[in-house]
Amino acid sequence: MSTLVDSWLQGLKTAPILYSQRLLLRPVCVGDVTHIQKCVNDRRVSDNLSYTPHPYTMEMAEIWTRNVDKGMGQGTCCYWTICGKKTNNFIGSMGLSLYREQENCELHYWISAEEWNKGYCTEASKRTIVHVFEDLNMHRAHVTHRENNAASKSVIEKCGFVLEGNSRESLKRFGKFENVLMYGLLQNEYLALKAKGLY
Ligand SMILES: CC(C)(COP(=O)(O)OP(=O)(O)OC[C@H]1O[C@@H](n2cnc3c(N)ncnc32)[C@H](O)[C@@H]1OP(=O)(O)O)[C@@H](O)C(=O)NCCC(=O)NCCS
Repeated sequence: MSTLVDSWLQGLKTAPILYSQRLLLRPVCVGDVTHIQKCVNDRRVSDNLSYTPHPYTMEMAEIWTRNVDKGMGQGTCCYWTICGKKTNNFIGSMGLSLYREQENCELHYWISAEEWNKGYCTEASKRTIVHVFEDLNMHRAHVTHRENNAASKSVIEKCGFVLEGNSRESLKRFGKFENVLMYGLLQNEYLALKAKGLY
C-alpha cells in the first residue's frame, strides 16, 4: 500500500453509505486494497470480468483505487465496498459509471468467490438501483454480461433489467472474441417493478 498511504483519497469519501437487509455498501477505503487484490486475482472472479488483467497485482489494485478516487472526485463514477452488515466482513465491490448529462449510468460488480450464490450480488445491485433512481434521479441504468456468465445473467434478470441486444464478438478476452449481452432499465420501469413489489 506504499503509494496510497500518503494519499488523501478524498473522492472515495463521496459515496453515501447504503444499507440493505444483510449488507452495508460503504465507500471504498485504503484498507480494502488487500482484499480487492486477493479477490480479483482469483481466476474464478477475473475470468468473468471484461478488462481486468491476470495476474492482478497489489500495484494494479492501488492504481484502480486511485483511479476510482479521481473519478469519484470528478463525479464520473461511484464505487462501494460490499460488507456484511453485522460482521463488517469484506464481500465484494459494487460500482456505477455515471453519465450525468445523459442521466444514465452503468452497473459493475463482483463478489468474492467464497461468498457466491448467497444472493449478495442481487441484494447489493437492487439497493444500488434504488439509489440510482430515487436519490440520483437517473433516467436509465444499464448493465452487460458476457454470454457465458450465467450467474451475472441471473442477477441482472432478478433485478428486472430488460434485454436490449447482443453485441456479437465485441469483447476480446484472453485471445477469444465473446458476445456481450446488453440490458437496460428505465426509471418508469423501475417504478412499475417497485409497485409490483420487486423493489
Ligand atoms: C456474477 C456474481 C457477481 C454473482 O454474485 P452472487 O452474489 O453469487 O449472485 P447471487 O447469489 O445474487 O445470484 C447468483 C445467481 O446465479 C445463479 N448461478 C450461479 N452460477 C450459475 C451457473 N453456472 N448457471 C446458472 N445459474 C448460476 C445462482 O443460482 C443464483 O441464482 P438464484 O438466486 O436464482 O439461485 C459473481 O458470480 C461474480 O463475482 N462473478 C465473477 C465476476 C463477474 O462475473 N462480475 C460481473 C461481470 S458482468
